[in-house]
Amino acid sequence: MFLRLTLAIAHLLALAIGLGAVWGRWRALRRLRDITGLDAVFHADNWYGVAALLWIITGLWRAFGGVEKGSDYYLTSHTFLTKMGLFVIVLLLELRPMVTFIRWRSQMKKGRTPDLSSAPLLARLTIYELPLLVLMVCMAAAMARGW
Ligand code: HEM
Repeated sequence: MFLRLTLAIAHLLALAIGLGAVWGRWRALRRLRDITGLDAVFHADNWYGVAALLWIITGLWRAFGGVEKGSDYYLTSHTFLTKMGLFVIVLLLELRPMVTFIRWRSQMKKGRTPDLSSAPLLARLTIYELPLLVLMVCMAAAMARGW
């Protein structure tokens, strides 16, 4: 019971952290003019990473670790499968930003100035993720109630 509650709380906290981080990263990318703005981008991106890890670990544990309704319930739930489909789209949208931030971070560490010209595209990709995450919440609420 304690584990079940803890996982549910952590899963919901990931939502709070994740939505804030996506919004923050979008704003930081839109304001990015030179490398002085990179700290804000990396800061928001770090929190998004924390949220993603929490979502994946607690979500998979709840779905397949036998702490909630059992794998059969979720694997036959249309709303769960839709939620996972939306998550895959979010991950695909995240590929380009992820690869670019890894490159920017590594260039900054080596004392080089990264090319920031893709910031507007990365901002757009980031904000496209927001409605998908909100839709995931709708699917999650429905799936938890037997839809
Ligand atoms: C690998 C990714 C994920 C998996 C496997 C997963 C799985 C689950 C599971 C098994 C539950 C419990 C449902 C129940 O009570 O029967 C749940 C609840 C929930 N999930 Fe996820 N989840 C994932 C990612 C996400 C993401 C990215 C979001 C938000 C955008 C999210 C939002 C929610 C919410 C809000 C609930 C609570 C629903 C409620 O009790 O009303 N999940 N999730």
